[in-house]
Amino acid sequence: MEKLLFEISREGKKAIAFPPCDVEEISPQEVIEKDYLREDLELIEVSQLDVVRHFTRLSQLNFSIDTNFYPLGSCTMKYNPRVNENVASLEGFTELHPFQDEETVQGILEAAYLLKEYLKELGGFADVSLQPAAGAHGELLGLLLIAAYHRDRGNDKKDIVLIPDSAHGTNPASAAIAGFKVLTVKSDKNGELDWEDFKKKLNDRVAALMITNPNTLGIFERNIKRLAEALHEVDALLYMDGANFNALVGRMRPGDWGVDVMHFNLHKTFSTPHGGGGPGSGPVGVSERLKPYLPVPQIEFDGTKYYLNWNIPKSVGKVLTFYGHVGIWLRALAYILAYGKEIFKVADHAILNARYLRKKLEGFFADPYKHVPCMHEFVLSATNLKKYGVKALDVAKRMLDYGVHPPTMYFPLIVPEALMIEPTETESKETLDYFAQVCKQIVNEAKTNPQLLKEAPHKTPVRRIKEAEANRRPILKYQPKEVK
Ligand SMILES: Cc1ncc(COP(=O)(O)O)c(C=O)c1O
Repeated sequence: MEKLLFEISREGKKAIAFPPCDVEEISPQEVIEKDYLREDLELIEVSQLDVVRHFTRLSQLNFSIDTNFYPLGSCTMKYNPRVNENVASLEGFTELHPFQDEETVQGILEAAYLLKEYLKELGGFADVSLQPAAGAHGELLGLLLIAAYHRDRGNDKKDIVLIPDSAHGTNPASAAIAGFKVLTVKSDKNGELDWEDFKKKLNDRVAALMITNPNTLGIFERNIKRLAEALHEVDALLYMDGANFNALVGRMRPGDWGVDVMHFNLHKTFSTPHGGGGPGSGPVGVSERLKPYLPVPQIEFDGTKYYLNWNIPKSVGKVLTFYGHVGIWLRALAYILAYGKEIFKVADHAILNARYLRKKLEGFFADPYKHVPCMHEFVLSATNLKKYGVKALDVAKRMLDYGVHPPTMYFPLIVPEALMIEPTETESKETLDYFAQVCKQIVNEAKTNPQLLKEAPHKTPVRRIKEAEANRRPILKYQPKEVK
């Protein structure tokens, strides 16, 4: 177990040498008497080297995309190019304050406006709001826009959102928070939305269908245009969860299919930091139908200057403080500009890598949708290892011993013992081959020594935890053995 800095601390150690004092000195006693200092405050006393080693060691305890292959399906853990970081840390951006006058922040407004225009173009939308803080936040905004649209038309019957059974959990959660009832639509044998079930459930009360394309099985929903038409006939709208837009970017535009609203997960498609690596960003693109309800302010250009447009009378209001997650916007813009007209290569290589890997893994696990080509990810099932007493969880834990982050497990819910694999476009053939070799090895171990998998991981700083106990009785506070 790693020690805390408090435990490493030794009296008298210093990390910094101060220059000679050039102001009047006062004694520590005087400082205490003046209430500037608390006598009982136990400060850490460590050398600079102690600090560097401590934090470097901590940084190595975790898995990261910079150190290991991370094929976490649906999460798109792709490399974050350093040029993005360089752009986002330019002083001209980092030294700004959100309360500055518009005239003094023209550069950052121009960058935001550019990003908005690129997203409009790539998604085929009438407009885009950059405000939401993450994909799920974008979903909520999208649903609030849909609610505002129906309210504005005096249509208060619209209280149902249809959601496929393969959907990400945030979809029904967002619909419920926005005040809708959720009705689940089945998937068919090809992993697509079941057209018959959809038609059966479509009626005047339906406010929208919320569908992911490619869906969470990594399968393209071929009926997407037909779905939009059927929905529009009953004045219902089409929400597309754009989490998997990385499989489409530069090749297809959801707006052209009749999609009314979609969130972009900038961290997935446009390589900005993800999860613990920083805040997300979930811009929302809309068709003309929903444009009047976008949040204020919208970033606009009047031909000479960039400005914040607060004059949107039917706006749903503001959904985030200040401008939004500007640092993330800059990283995404850098990624888009770096690819330029070749941005379609993101989608092409993501799909190529997924199809290559799926082929390499043939025969190791069950593949319930084997007959359907995958897009940027695919979902296998560890049910074939059940006879050895091995579960998807055991496979995943063993992968850690081989220096690979496990795929997403047990999602989507319609696949038992699911292993959802997304290699992303940034991985090399060598890495994919290594992963296939690891899977082969693990399947052999499952057959010959299943206990090895059931006790895995063996080589990580934290070994197998009791999942249920960790959830029910989490230890959230560090338990020091010895604090000075
Ligand atoms: C299909 C899908 N929809 C929505 C989300 C939510 O996005 P975020 O994590 O940015 O809130 C995710 C996240 O993994 C997702 O995979």
